[in-house]
This record gives sequence, C-alpha cells and structure tokens, in this order.
Amino acid sequence: MLPMLSEQVEKTLRQLEVLREQEIEREEIGEIYTKEKRSLAIPRDEGKFLYLLARVMKAKLIVEIGTSFGYSTTWLAAAVQSHGGTVISYDILPEKIEVASKYLSEAGLKGNVELVLGDAKTLLSQISEPVDIIFLDADKADYPEFMELAIDKLRIGGILLSDNVLDCLEIHKDDPEVCEEITSYLIQHPKIMTVTLPFLPNGLEMTLKIAD
Ligand SMILES: C[S@@+](CC[C@H](N)C(=O)[O-])C[C@H]1O[C@@H](n2cnc3c(N)ncnc32)[C@H](O)[C@@H]1O
Repeated sequence: MLPMLSEQVEKTLRQLEVLREQEIEREEIGEIYTKEKRSLAIPRDEGKFLYLLARVMKAKLIVEIGTSFGYSTTWLAAAVQSHGGTVISYDILPEKIEVASKYLSEAGLKGNVELVLGDAKTLLSQISEPVDIIFLDADKADYPEFMELAIDKLRIGGILLSDNVLDCLEIHKDDPEVCEEITSYLIQHPKIMTVTLPFLPNGLEMTLKIAD
C-alpha cells in the first residue's frame, strides 16, 4: 500500500489552509494585505494533483517558481519524500522564504526541499540537471519568459504546470494582453503539447515537453 500523508504534513497543510481562508474572508470585507503577508496558496485539490503527478512520475527533481508560505511546496515535497527526490523552490521575498522554511520544518520535509531566495528568472537559468516537473506560480506578466526558460530546462517527457490560466483575465483586467500572450505562446510552441485543467477558480495548464 502507498504511504499516506504523515500527520505532520496534514497538520501543516491544514494550518496553511486556515491562513488562506482567513485571507480570503478579510479581503472580501476590504482588508488589504501587503505582498509579504499574502499566502496566495493554490486550492487543496490542485495541491493533491501536484502530489499525485509527482508520485506517478517518481519525479526526482522538481522546481517551483513562487514558494510563498510553502503550501504547494509542502504537497510537492511530501510526494518526493516517498521515493527520494528534491524540490527546489524560489521566492523573491525574504519574508516568504522565512515563513515557508518554518512550515516545511514543522512538516518534517526540510530534507527534501531547497528554498532559494532570489529572482527565479536568474536562478532557473542556472539549473544544469534535467528537471522532471516545473510548477510556475508567480507574476503572470513574467509567464512567457518563465515558460521559455522552463521548457528549456525540462527533460523530454517532463511537465510544466502553470497556475492561474483560467482566472488570468480577472487578475489582469487592465492588461488582458498578458493573458493572450501566454495562450498564444503555448499554442504556437513546436516542442510541447498542452491542456488546461479546470481546477476552480485558478485553472492549471499542464504542458508536456515532447522534443528538445
Ligand atoms: C501566488 S504566490 C505562490 C503560492 C504558492 N505556490 C502556493 O500555492 O502556496 C506567488 C509567489 O511568487 C513570488 N514571486 C513573484 N515573482 C517572482 C520571481 N521573479 N522570482 C521568484 N519569486 C517570485 C512572490 O513573492 C509570491 O510569493
């Protein structure tokens, strides 16, 4: 039987889900969060999907762009813990890396995660091993640049997962070209095959690298 999530991991995920719920409720009544204080975590179903995919692929190296408080990182790290893989996760804000580090320690996952502070564009370009999965969850305006870099770093058969492809137009009401640029980039790329998974409200784009 496959091992299930440990108690420590489940507790950490629940704590981060409570934080996210509070954030949503407070934003609904007009409270404004600073970038440093917003968790912006993916929904639980999407986290579960990341976990299942990482396990099915027995992913040895996963790169995450956008750690925030470490919710998605926790799912990915729990998945690779079972077969001995690594998650490298980047965030540009030191406050985020600090909080994520605390939660991943509490979850007992620090041995499978490398949290790296800095601009993921620079950091991702320095990766030299082929990557199994890249999870992209940062600013949408940077997506075309990140996607180009990510496809280059994936192994053939590797998967790029890009969050917020369905709610992109809502996030970028004043700048819809950002979303059009992402879609046309993916449709025209000759080395990939891509499909939108309807996780609500975000939408997750799953892109397979089929050629070098
Ligand atoms: C939507 S949040 C990530 C949420 C996280 N993946 C989760 O589900 O728990 C996006 C994060 O990307 C980080 N970020 C934005 N641009 C970045 C960049 N160029 N390099 C690294 N991190 C970046 C932000 O600081 C923010 O914490």
